[in-house]
Amino acid sequence: MDAKNTAKSAALAVGDKKLDMTVKDGTIGPSVVDIGKLYAQTGMFTYDPGFTSTASCESKITYIDGDEGVLLYRGYPIEQIAEHGDFLETCYLLLYGELPTAAQKADFDYRVNRHTMVHEQMHRFFQGFRRDAHPMAVMVGSVGALSAFYHDSTDISDPQQRMIASIRMIAKMPTLAAMAYKYSVGQPFVYPRNDLDLSSNFLRMCFAVPAEEYKVNPVLSRAMDRIFILHADHEQNASTSTVRLAGSSGANPFACIAAGIACLWGPAHGGANEAALKMLTEIGSVDKIPEYVKRAKDKNDPFRLMGFGHRVYKNYDPRAKIMQKTCHEVLTELGIKDDPLLDVAMELEKIALKDDYFVEKKLYPNIDFYSGITLKAMGFPTTMFTVLFALARTVGWIAQWKEMIEDPGQKIGRPRQLYTGSTRRDYLPISRRK
Ligand code: SDX
Repeated sequence: MDAKNTAKSAALAVGDKKLDMTVKDGTIGPSVVDIGKLYAQTGMFTYDPGFTSTASCESKITYIDGDEGVLLYRGYPIEQIAEHGDFLETCYLLLYGELPTAAQKADFDYRVNRHTMVHEQMHRFFQGFRRDAHPMAVMVGSVGALSAFYHDSTDISDPQQRMIASIRMIAKMPTLAAMAYKYSVGQPFVYPRNDLDLSSNFLRMCFAVPAEEYKVNPVLSRAMDRIFILHADHEQNASTSTVRLAGSSGANPFACIAAGIACLWGPAHGGANEAALKMLTEIGSVDKIPEYVKRAKDKNDPFRLMGFGHRVYKNYDPRAKIMQKTCHEVLTELGIKDDPLLDVAMELEKIALKDDYFVEKKLYPNIDFYSGITLKAMGFPTTMFTVLFALARTVGWIAQWKEMIEDPGQKIGRPRQLYTGSTRRDYLPISRRK
């Protein structure tokens, strides 16, 4: 969709009315028809459940071309960032819009490192959860609770407080995610170490135990960092739209991020990595694949291939290719020669990509298809997969939230509806109801 749209306006005939609506062009990608005055001029709403043809905002952060399988963070291709950058550099780029100089990167790393610890009371906050609580439930609760601790960064009208809240979220998500994991396995929390980079710090907080020294494996730490980069932002997906809508009411950033985590948890969205691994485990062996592919194509069967398909990508998700490469690197580093789940995944992908159903519907593996195998090999339980997605996506949510707050035209999001319920009717006393 790179060809610039030539039309400068769009005509809409509504009854005997002819409306001329402004067409706005982006720098790349589809243009938009501004329908802001439609209701005032026609008394009608547009109707687009799932927002398949609706742009909810203007943004400069992330661009996706679903037909070409392109993903750009502030104009830089994801393949190049994943290859050459690190996650904190990606956080700087998404927040500030430019790649940092060496001095800016050092200062940003220092500022984030200064906020990696959480208030000590949070340790007691965790005690209220059952040990077998899903770590995503713990994350929704504990991230929302940050607004109960950090009152000095909840005034969203103050740019200084907005930036402190942003840095705090980026810095504390790895600590809270590691605490959620440790709590679920009954091991003591491990405090962050500021001499380690973010991903090494995170792996250590997850897998170190007081009884012995923990040595970070640089290959696994690099893989973790790359996985965070791949998940950092993705335009106006469901959880980002949730954060923007929550933020449009003026809610504090911690509450908005908690809302994003709640939305990401769904199996159709960020929960798909956990669901995809469960699916691959259920399939179990290559010979069972045809049966499951048949079920995925059966309209009467709710089963879908988890980790396949995407609202925007009608081509291979560029992140899935990098994820597959990272998966092989991790399995090789860990000496895992033949992972049956990877065999099933590779064969399933091969079969599905040749099957007319998937070809016609343009269903390709998405980022969640290979991430589960990689994270499982690294030692994470499936219940932690979406927590890792939320850890990485926090910077995207924060960057999009900041962009929305700083947009002078921003107003509270308040969609309308097509009402098909009862027309007006009078109250009936219970004695007269049948
Ligand atoms: C993420 O938006 C984002 O950017 C999200 C994300 C991000 O980074 O934020 O990329 C992360 O959420 C990735 C997607 C993870 N979800 C899954 O892997 C779950 C499985 N996929 C599907 O549920 C589905 O593909 C969605 C939810 C991802 C997209 O759904 P859409 O765009 O609403 O498309 P659809 O459900 O209307 O599907 C179109 C057709 C349907 O058939 P018809 O009604 O046209 O006959 O394709 C079929 C669907 O039945 N279909 C599938 C399928 N996905 C879609 N059939 C079998 N298996 C699948 N996985």
